[in-house]
Amino acid sequence: MSYNIAIDGPAGAGKSTIAKKVAKDKGFIYVDTGAMYRAMALFMLEKKIDLNDEKAIAEMCKSADISIKYEDGVQCVYLNGVNVNDKIRTPEVSAAASKTSVVAEVRQKLVELQQELAAHESVVMDGRDICTKVLPNADVKVFLTASVEVRAERRYKELIEKGMECDLEEIKKDIAERDHRDMTRAESPLVQAKDAELVDSSSMTIDEVVEKIKSLCK
Ligand code: DC
Repeated sequence: MSYNIAIDGPAGAGKSTIAKKVAKDKGFIYVDTGAMYRAMALFMLEKKIDLNDEKAIAEMCKSADISIKYEDGVQCVYLNGVNVNDKIRTPEVSAAASKTSVVAEVRQKLVELQQELAAHESVVMDGRDICTKVLPNADVKVFLTASVEVRAERRYKELIEKGMECDLEEIKKDIAERDHRDMTRAESPLVQAKDAELVDSSSMTIDEVVEKIKSLCK
């Protein structure tokens, strides 16, 4: 039997950092579902699809073969046979992923892939609809959040460390816009599941959040 830990939350709440650590500690696989939506968005950008044209996105997503492989314990996302890990972390892809992920056909395709992974392996899976839609029967459910200011500052530091040019106010605006879009869309909006534990990481260290989640695992 696989054991599933589901973590939802807005952009920049620290989901991936926390989920990776919990997964390592437990010997589980970490599944970053945002990376799958990002790969799909990259595909739409490469195909020059109008991101406001939901019909075109729904049609084009049929030609995107997205898969996950683990190489030295690192999740690699493959888009039509090519590892796209290095291409999906740009602000352009972030914004595009928030737009293309509103399309029902995109969600259906990726949710199936995520459910299949979790059925066969013990996972820590993070995203926006994991507790509510993808793994409603997960053993542990967490809604991880933090204030917009704290999340923007974390993203800013991350990008600067990668040597990317960026502006804090711009990032704050992008995050607020993404929150709005992710929380108000018709298909699987980001909400705290009724049975998910709320964890606000604004004034917690990474280790404190990891310990909190581990304490929820029976
Ligand atoms: O977690 P992230 O920033 O990598 O996610 C990128 C976008 O993908 C985010 O704006 C919303 C979307 N997403 C989603 O709709 N459902 C998920 N389970 C994960 C991500």
